[in-house]
Amino acid sequence: MIIYYSLTGHTKKLAQEIAKKTEDKLYEIQLDKPYKNNPLVLARFTKEKATGVIPTAHKIDIEDAVIYLGYPMWGGDMSLAMQGFLMANDLSGKHIKPFITSGTSTLKMSLKTLKKLAPDAMIDANFNSDML
Ligand SMILES: Cc1cc2nc3c(=O)[nH]c(=O)nc-3n(C[C@H](O)[C@H](O)[C@H](O)COP(=O)(O)O)c2cc1C
Repeated sequence: MIIYYSLTGHTKKLAQEIAKKTEDKLYEIQLDKPYKNNPLVLARFTKEKATGVIPTAHKIDIEDAVIYLGYPMWGGDMSLAMQGFLMANDLSGKHIKPFITSGTSTLKMSLKTLKKLAPDAMIDANFNSDML
C-alpha cells in the first residue's frame, strides 16, 4: 500500500509512479482540516510549528505489511499532515519505505520524526524509489 500526503501534487506524482511499478493501491491522507494550496499555507504552518499543533488525520484500515510512505518536507522535517496521519494510525510491525519530495531538504532530516511516530515499525531508511 502506498500512503502519501501531497499539497501541490509533487508527492502525488511520485506516489503514482511507484504504484505503476509495484501495483500497490494508493491512499491520499485526509485531514479533518485540510491545508489549502494557496500562500496562506505558510502562515498556518508557521503558527502550527510554533505552537506544537499537529493537524488531525483520518484513521484507516491498513492490512498490508509493506507501506510506501510519501510526504513533502516542510520546515526541514516531515510535513505535519504526515505526522498527524502517523499519530492517528498505528504502523507497528509494518515495513515502511519512506519517500519524500522537497526543494532541498532530504529524507534523512525527517527520520528522527518518523522513528518517533512509528517506533515499532521497520523503517527502510535507504529506500530509493528509482531502484524499483
Ligand atoms: C509550508 C511549506 C514548507 C516547506 N518547507 C520546505 C523545507 O523546509 N525544505 C524544502 O526543501 N522544501 C520545503 N517546501 C517545499 C516542498 O517540500 C516541495 O515543494 C514539495 O515537493 C511539495 O510536495 P507536494 O507537491 O506533494 O505538496 C515547503 C513547502 C511548503 C508548502
